[in-house]
Amino acid sequence: MSSTTPANHTITPRDRKFAHANNMRWWANGDPIGTAFWNAFSATFPDGERFFMDSVRHFREHVSPSLREQIKGFLAQEAIHSREHVTFNRLVSEDGYDVAAIEVRNKEELDEARTEHPIGQLAITMGLEHFTAILAHALLSDPRHLEGAPEAVQDLWRWHAMEEVEHKAVAFDTYMEVMKDVSPFKRWWIRSFVMLRTTWDMAVFQGWAMGRLLEQDGINLSRSKWRMARFLLKEPGIIRSIAWAYLQYFRPGFHPWAIDDRHLLRAEEARLAEAA
Ligand SMILES: [Fe+2]
Ligand SMILES: [Fe+2]
Repeated sequence: MSSTTPANHTITPRDRKFAHANNMRWWANGDPIGTAFWNAFSATFPDGERFFMDSVRHFREHVSPSLREQIKGFLAQEAIHSREHVTFNRLVSEDGYDVAAIEVRNKEELDEARTEHPIGQLAITMGLEHFTAILAHALLSDPRHLEGAPEAVQDLWRWHAMEEVEHKAVAFDTYMEVMKDVSPFKRWWIRSFVMLRTTWDMAVFQGWAMGRLLEQDGINLSRSKWRMARFLLKEPGIIRSIAWAYLQYFRPGFHPWAIDDRHLLRAEEARLAEAA
């Protein structure tokens, strides 16, 4: 089990442009719940990824040259993701979903997070990067998650997922380097405490945001609990599929590359090369 980033691991920004897709209303296989789940995430990405970038960039001059190089790749990747999800969110809006309220509340929460100590902000990013990495792993390894989506939408999420896996340890390694003089227990405690708090905040936010989107479909979230539970836990069961990997984060000595999913990167590279 690896406790470091693999030697010579490189982070390659791929400046891809999301091709437009028609009929984004229930793009996730005709399922309003699945569509709301991914749309709610996407609405948070442009500002969220800017927060990730700023919290890591803050420490760029305090780390080794090799990590600084990885940070450079991470910043470039997140900037492109942010740009492409602006396009995705616009298409979602054009096809009838108002996402403005979600974007506003997300920005307010991030502005509040920006008042925390820089290490606290980095720890939030480290936790959320673990989330995105394990969601990305699930998306890339189980085709049911994107089944039935327009090809351009699948391409966007798969490309984003791939790069999330590729740069999954950058915030973590930054945290470990800048906290190297702090006791292992304290490092673990801050990491775990912030993750628990972030998980709670994210779950509350995601539930609220999905409710806002579903009410635009005339669906009352509190009356659709079974449908929601089925989507999250059974079919396709996105939360069930990330549960084990989520818990790994709390293990003392954990490192993101302890889950070695470079085979997913290689498979996706091959797919992109073939498509090109
Ligand atoms: Fe991203
Ligand atoms: Fe990321």
